[in-house]
Amino acid sequence: MLPEPLPTVHDLLAFYLEAGVDCALSDTPIDRLAEETVNEMAPTAQRPALRPSAPIAPAMPAAAPMARGDAAPAPDIAITSAREAARTATTLEELRALLETFDGCALKFTATRLVFADGNPKARIMFVGEAPGRDEDIEGLPFVGRSGKLLDLMIGAIGLDRTKVYIANVIPWRPPGNRTPTPQETQICLPFIQRQIELVDPDILVTMGNPSTQTLLRTREGIMRTRGKWIDYDTGRRTIRAMPTFHPAYLLRSPSYKRLSWQDLRAIRKALTPA
Ligand code: URA
Repeated sequence: MLPEPLPTVHDLLAFYLEAGVDCALSDTPIDRLAEETVNEMAPTAQRPALRPSAPIAPAMPAAAPMARGDAAPAPDIAITSAREAARTATTLEELRALLETFDGCALKFTATRLVFADGNPKARIMFVGEAPGRDEDIEGLPFVGRSGKLLDLMIGAIGLDRTKVYIANVIPWRPPGNRTPTPQETQICLPFIQRQIELVDPDILVTMGNPSTQTLLRTREGIMRTRGKWIDYDTGRRTIRAMPTFHPAYLLRSPSYKRLSWQDLRAIRKALTPA
């Protein structure tokens, strides 16, 4: 039997791309497998310590900014810190500034930039997705890639555009390779998006897709069951109406669900129209 030919660089890059690895995290390669062996061999006391006491919100003492590859603090410390920090923001500008300096979520160190929001902060309607993708990470704005183009069409279909809506994500940093955010990452980011919703104070909240719906509306039901139904959402100031609907990325993959999505959009338009 002939030996298998060795893969070419092109084959390897194609393999990585297929697996969702489409960005470099550092200029020089790091052998993580070798690192693991060294760490396993080192006595606990000699292992590089995580930095649980490092400040993860400006409310805590200042420290040197963390670089890519540094460990973020333990999740429970980060969640507590996120809650405390988010509470202190009294405007959207303050909230954005807090996120820019918040070091509690490891996604920050692999993302290119913060993707905070787009649209009109005074809008009556707010759309929330899951997390930025590659295009959003480059531009620093949510929903600017393929699913963003579809979102624009969906919004346009009910007579709105980005000057009349506010758009954000549960997670404001791109997960590397567009992987699903971990439950810890989601819990760390949750207080910030909750505060963002409270500060925008929309009349209607639209959660797009399962992750956004389940996280914000605290349900375990899947989007097939939750979509199209009005659910009360307590912003902390008042109760508003929330509507789960399909994520545009899902509609790109499964266009037959656009029909149901259109039903949801019509209900949203009706709710926005004065009686
Ligand atoms: N998908 C999301 O959930 N958010 C974006 O900003 C882009 C794609």
